Amino acid sequence: MEQLYLICRHREVPNLHQYETYIQKEQGYQALQQVLKLSRDEVIDIVKASGLRGRGGAGFPTGLKWSFMPKNVQGPVYLVINCAEGEPGTFGNHEIIENNPHQLIEGIIIGCYAIGATAAYIYHRGEFKYGAEMMQRAVDEAYKQGWLGKKVGGREDVSLDIYLHPEASAYICGEETAQLNSIEGYLGQPRLKPPFPAQSGLWKRPTTVNNVETLAHVPAIIRNGPAWFRQWGTEKSPGTRVYCVSGHVMRPGNYELPMNVTARELIFEHAGGIWKGRGLKGFIPGGVSAPILTNDHLDLPLDYDSLAGAGSMGGSGGVIVMDDQTDMAWLAKKMVDFYSHESCGKCSPCREGTWWQKNLLDRMMTGLARSGDVEMLEMVSEQMAGTCFCPLGESSQMVVLGAMKYFRSDFERYGQGKAYDGVIPMSAIEHH
Ligand SMILES: Cc1cc2nc3c(=O)[nH]c(=O)nc-3n(C[C@H](O)[C@H](O)[C@H](O)COP(=O)(O)O)c2cc1C
Repeated sequence: MEQLYLICRHREVPNLHQYETYIQKEQGYQALQQVLKLSRDEVIDIVKASGLRGRGGAGFPTGLKWSFMPKNVQGPVYLVINCAEGEPGTFGNHEIIENNPHQLIEGIIIGCYAIGATAAYIYHRGEFKYGAEMMQRAVDEAYKQGWLGKKVGGREDVSLDIYLHPEASAYICGEETAQLNSIEGYLGQPRLKPPFPAQSGLWKRPTTVNNVETLAHVPAIIRNGPAWFRQWGTEKSPGTRVYCVSGHVMRPGNYELPMNVTARELIFEHAGGIWKGRGLKGFIPGGVSAPILTNDHLDLPLDYDSLAGAGSMGGSGGVIVMDDQTDMAWLAKKMVDFYSHESCGKCSPCREGTWWQKNLLDRMMTGLARSGDVEMLEMVSEQMAGTCFCPLGESSQMVVLGAMKYFRSDFERYGQGKAYDGVIPMSAIEHH
C-alpha cells in the first residue's frame, strides 16, 4: 500500500508551516468554524464515531476520553498536549510540530472546545528547539488571526490560551500524571490513579492529556466525517499512523501508513529491507517498551489489537529492526540501562528491579557471570511483573522476558562466563 498523508500533509504541500498556505491549500481552520456551530457533545460524538485512538501509547479511544470530562464545571479546565516523545525509537511528533503546526493547533482548539478547556499546555521535549520555535510562531499567528485568545473564531463565550512548556527530557515525564507534576513545578513522578486526570489533573482541575498525532488527526475527521477516516486501517484501529522505522534497515524514517499495514510491508518495502544483505532476527513494533517480535510475526498488521494478541503492543509506533547478527542479550542490556537510568525512584520494584536487571546483565556481558545469573535475571524480571507503580518498570521486565522467550540462548552464552566481544553499551564502569 501507498503512504498516505493525513498527518504528514507537509510532504505534499510545501511551506505548510505558514498560516497562508494552511488556509489556502488545506481548508485551514474550517473544521473549527464548523465545530463552533456544534455542541460539545456533538463534537465528541463525531470523534467517537471515527474510532480515533490515542497515538501516545495506550491506544485509548479519544472521543471516549473526552467524554469523561465533567460538564458545566466552574473554574479552569485544561488540555495538555503530550509532545515529550521520549520513547526510544520514536520520532514522529517533532516532524509534525516543525512542519505542520497549524493542523495541530486547529486540533487542539477543537479538543479544548469539546472538553470545555480554556487553557492548553504543549509539553514538549526540551531538545525540540526548532520545533518549539515553529510551534510558537504558528501559535502567535493563530492569536493574530483570532483563533486564540478571547472570542475564539468570533464566539463571545469561547476563549483559549496555548502555552508551550519545555521539559527537561526525563523519560518518565512522558507519562501523563508525571507530566502534570512537572508542569506544576514538582518532581516528575507519576501520581496514583484514581483519581484520573479528568477528575483531578493539572492543579487538581479536570484535565485531558492527548498526544500530538492524536490531536492532529481531528480537523480532517471533522471536515470529512467519521466514515471517511474509517476507510483506512482496521475496524478497531482506523486511520493512519506515523510509523518511525529505525535500526538495521536500508531506509530509516517516518512512514505514514494505514494501520492495517503489515510489519513485512513496512520493513521490507517502505524501509527498503535489512541492511548489508542480512536477514531479520527480530523487531520491536511500538517503541522499546513493546516486547520484541520475530520473523514469525512479519505478517501481522501493525494495529493495536493484532500486536496485543501477539503479546506485544502498538505503543508509540516506533518500529526498531534488528538484523540476524544482533545479540539479544546486548539489546536487553542497552534497554535495561535506559530504564534503570530513567526510573524515577518512586517505587521499589522499578527502582531496585531495573538496577538488578542492569547489574546482572553488566556481569554477564563482562564475563563475570555467576552460575544461575540467567535464571536470576528471569526471576527478578518476573518479580517486577504487576508490582511497579507505573508502566515504566513494567516495560523493563517485559522487554527482558520478551527477549528471553524467543532468544534464550543469546543470554545463556553469557551465563557461563563468556564476555561480549564487541562494544558493551554504557558499561557499568562508565555509567556510575
Ligand atoms: C513511561 C511512559 C512514557 C510515556 N511517554 C509518552 C510520550 O512521550 N508521548 C506521549 O504522547 N505519551 C507518552 N506516554 C503515554 C501517556 O501517559 C498518555 O497515555 C498519552 O499521552 C495519552 O495521549 P493519547 O490518548 O492521545 O494517546 C508515556 C507513558 C509512560 C508510562
